Amino acid sequence: MGRSIIALDDLTVNNLGVFEKINEVSLPTTYPQSWYTASLSSSDVIVQLAFYSELPVGAIRARSFNNNQIRSSFAEAVNSTVLQKTPNCVYIESFAVLEKYRNLGIGSKLLSWVIEETKNRYIHEIVVHVQVTNEKAINWYLKKGFEKQDLVKDYYKEQGLESPDAYILTLSV
Ligand SMILES: CC(C)(COP(=O)(O)OP(=O)(O)OC[C@H]1O[C@@H](n2cnc3c(N)ncnc32)[C@H](O)[C@@H]1OP(=O)(O)O)[C@@H](O)C(=O)NCCC(=O)NCCS
Repeated sequence: MGRSIIALDDLTVNNLGVFEKINEVSLPTTYPQSWYTASLSSSDVIVQLAFYSELPVGAIRARSFNNNQIRSSFAEAVNSTVLQKTPNCVYIESFAVLEKYRNLGIGSKLLSWVIEETKNRYIHEIVVHVQVTNEKAINWYLKKGFEKQDLVKDYYKEQGLESPDAYILTLSV
């Protein structure tokens, strides 16, 4: 199974439901419908779907942000629509590959896409929050060159997760 059968494509109105489904079955967090709708209409939001042998199996959504505006809570982040300051980072808001299709290079390809999109915007930092207990994802990001920054207490509080704290991880590009 080679990496050549992995393809990326843009989000459209026709595959918005697939994006929702991938997040729903892969992530402990839930996103409001308005967040999904904004995935198509907001110019500072970027989304890419990953296909394995033409099956949609992964998705990443990120957004130009000002790092002084990095939110202290997930609820605030998903409900904020206005970018108030000049963007100086790209913030990964959701990132998931269906369990069965992990470790095949799909996540790496999606991250590479975000890195290129970041550089195209003349932005040099990528930021993500990761639940403290999600050691696999934290180690994955560290292997990709991200650095662990602050611990944000109760970041996922409103999501009702057992461990609501998150680490901020950043990558210079
Ligand atoms: C994080 C995630 C998106 C990665 O996607 P993926 O398709 O499995 O990633 P890849 O197959 O591209 O990763 C392969 C690389 O990661 C490495 N890797 C895999 N698991 C790892 C781990 N737990 N720790 C460190 N490295 C790891 C592999 O060795 C490989 O390295 P290489 O590129 O140097 O060969 C995926 O695991 C996922 O959806 N997890 C659940 C949801 C989640 O936690 N999302 C992040 C929330 S912010």
